[in-house]
Amino acid sequence: MAVLELSNIRKDFGSQTILNGIDLAVEDGEFVAILGFSGTGKTTLINLMAGLEKPTAGSVTFRDKPVTGPGPERGVVFQSYALMPWLTVTSNIALAVRSAMPKLPAKDLAARVQKYIKMVGLTHAATRRPAELSGGMRQRVGIARALAMDPEILLLDEPLSALDALTRGNLADEIEAIWEADRKTVVLITNDVDEAIVLADRILCLDPNGTMGAEFRVTLPRPRGRTAMNHDPAFKALRAEVTGHLIAAGAHATE
Ligand SMILES: Nc1ncnc2c1ncn2[C@@H]1O[C@H](COP(=O)(O)OP(=O)(O)OP(=O)(O)O)[C@@H](O)[C@H]1O
Ligand SMILES: [Mg+2]
Repeated sequence: MAVLELSNIRKDFGSQTILNGIDLAVEDGEFVAILGFSGTGKTTLINLMAGLEKPTAGSVTFRDKPVTGPGPERGVVFQSYALMPWLTVTSNIALAVRSAMPKLPAKDLAARVQKYIKMVGLTHAATRRPAELSGGMRQRVGIARALAMDPEILLLDEPLSALDALTRGNLADEIEAIWEADRKTVVLITNDVDEAIVLADRILCLDPNGTMGAEFRVTLPRPRGRTAMNHDPAFKALRAEVTGHLIAAGAHATE
């Protein structure tokens, strides 16, 4: 069953059409990755799903109800960290959990916050404020915050993009493990082909002209993990195919 559905979406900013004719149905429990070059409209697309932007034409629905604004059933991890600078890691997450679960007793709330801080490996930094964290640590806080709110669907806008390659790979493996354990529905925006293949059930390419390009099913067995994948012929073949599509679509756009 489709949880989140976009139907014939167009999004204009002024006279510029950013997205056009976008149809997308995300299934319950599915992990979808959307791949595209910088500036193709990926953040715009996730903002439409989050209810932070309204489409110029077309509709966004969540479980058959029109999306008219943000909601606790849709958790977003923003490309820019969007943390409260004056609050500690613990308080940033607690604030979000309180807003999503207003009836949760204080003791359970504290335990919940602690659990997710531990899950992203930040227990040692729980009392620090965002300015005292590295970019990667801030992104972990964003991920912990979204997970702790227990949304039905996670919308991740390049959550790993500010990280160095090593940390990025490790956190991608962690996200896969968390997803395996929790099986939440996830939409991940990324510009990294390998990351998309390691994590997703389905990869969609957003072409530079703002339309949906090729779609790839990823049937590689889980857990995937990057190290194992580097030697897997099926992984390498898929990587070549996806990269080929992106390059061809990009070349077409600049002709
Ligand atoms: N609020 C806005 N007003 C006007 N133009 C906008 C607005 N938001 C985005 N745009 C334009 O829409 C286009 C797509 O932007 P968007 O941020 O969605 O791209 P993106 O694929 O997320 O890029 P990146 O990979 O760099 O994050 C860009 O040309 C951008 O300048
Ligand atoms: Mg973006």
